[in-house]
Amino acid sequence: MNNTSPLSGSPPAPGGEDILQVERLGKTYVLGQTAIPVLRDVSLTVRAGEIISIIGASGSGKSTLLHILGALDQPSGGTVRFQGRDLYALSAAQRTIVRGKHIGFVFQFYHLMPELDVLENVMLPALSGNSGGTGMHDRAQSLLEAVGLAGRANHLPMELSGGEQQRAALARALMNQPDLVLADEPTGNLDSVTGGQVLEFLFALTRGQRRTLILVTHNIAVARLCDRVLELKDGCLQST
Ligand SMILES: Nc1ncnc2c1ncn2[C@@H]1O[C@H](COP(=O)(O)OP(=O)(O)OP(=O)(O)O)[C@@H](O)[C@H]1O
Ligand SMILES: [Mg+2]
Repeated sequence: MNNTSPLSGSPPAPGGEDILQVERLGKTYVLGQTAIPVLRDVSLTVRAGEIISIIGASGSGKSTLLHILGALDQPSGGTVRFQGRDLYALSAAQRTIVRGKHIGFVFQFYHLMPELDVLENVMLPALSGNSGGTGMHDRAQSLLEAVGLAGRANHLPMELSGGEQQRAALARALMNQPDLVLADEPTGNLDSVTGGQVLEFLFALTRGQRRTLILVTHNIAVARLCDRVLELKDGCLQST
């Protein structure tokens, strides 16, 4: 992994207000008669502009937590306030609007639409999120340039390498200029060189724009590049 990123030592944005306030969050999956408690009591406050990493054993609930923070799944208890709004007191439709406008999600396995080319994939959040318009195409193209994929705009995802797909997914997550970027093991499937490049893009495109980033990773060296490292263990989030 690239530990020598010039971005790694940047300080957090000064004076940021809280973007996320998570209180006593719980999540229990119920499968038939079986209850699977995953998150028991997660509390967390994130200031705008922070870059935070979440580590934890496989199955500890990192993706579950990230999905709930990203308005993609319902908690069983507790509250998530995002920019002052109680996310799960909103209707599903209102939550979708908030997510589309303010939150970018980088999925571990990219989730690019296979039948759309790279440029169309990147533009997708703007098409579904009301923030389209004349600049949409140019913005998608410039994001592709930023992640080093300008020459691949009209290729299908299956024609790209894993690292290129991950970078396209990153560009897509940033399309709507989200305030909060949630990235679930964005380097997990990549070799260390490509992973280092993806991470540099991610840090540059969040830090440079004063965005907030929460990054899930298994890689402690990656985690330590962030402002704060938190560990999910026994359903609770602890500082390391
Ligand atoms: N939809 C679901 N229904 C039932 N159980 C689930 C569901 N999604 C996740 N789980 C369970 O919740 C636990 C936490 O899963 P999660 O995917 O959040 O872990 P993780 O920390 O992200 O793991 P990994 O590091 O392997 O990605 C696991 O035991 C998993 O089996
Ligand atoms: Mg996971």
